[in-house]
Amino acid sequence: MKIIAPSVLSADFGDLRQDIEMLNRSEAEWIHVDVMDGTFVPNISFGFPIMEPLHKYATKPLDVHLMIVHPEKYVERFCDAGAWSVGFHLEAVDDPRPILQLIRNKGVRTCLTINPDIDVHRLDPYLAEVDMVLLMSVFAGFGGQKFIPETIDKLRYVKEQISARKLNTLIEIDGGVNIDNAHELFEAGADVLVAGSAVFKASDPEQAIRQMLH
Ligand code: DX5
Ligand code: ZN
Repeated sequence: MKIIAPSVLSADFGDLRQDIEMLNRSEAEWIHVDVMDGTFVPNISFGFPIMEPLHKYATKPLDVHLMIVHPEKYVERFCDAGAWSVGFHLEAVDDPRPILQLIRNKGVRTCLTINPDIDVHRLDPYLAEVDMVLLMSVFAGFGGQKFIPETIDKLRYVKEQISARKLNTLIEIDGGVNIDNAHELFEAGADVLVAGSAVFKASDPEQAIRQMLH
């Protein structure tokens, strides 16, 4: 699978509807929604109020990435707010399983995420239980950071695990993705690439999305 999921973290919030309409027209298949709480990560982005216009105007699935402590308190509300998938960080919780169940009970797809300093093997026990894993290729918290190249080896490892076990689990890569590294990431086994600045800071965002795909 080859999906580009532009992150609205880099959108123009003064004119969000225009950016959503650009994404609707574009070849991007998903829209990535970065929720930061200022505690799990040293930055605050946005929360439920932004889900409203996204749910109302976007014609594409909303891929919600929670960078928050206590995701168990909020996952159901994000499901109710129109999320198509809800992901949270493995390192933010003691036991992800009950939280994954809360999301599944809402009929929403699940995603487990790890930051670059978390051992990728910690995902192994959950690969068969989630719809997607998200490997951060920058430290969660800010858009516009540089891609961490070691992510490619982790991506290959997870892809091997998924193939060997004949699973359908998707792999998403998030952080520092751009036109220069997107093709290599898809070739290494990524299914979904999140791109914030590479899309919204481009002079022609729709063209940037096309170039990452083709
Ligand atoms: C970082 C977020 C990313 C971010 C990506 O904490 O999870 O989704 O918006 O932005 P770029 O593509 O600019 O690295
Ligand atoms: Zn993200």
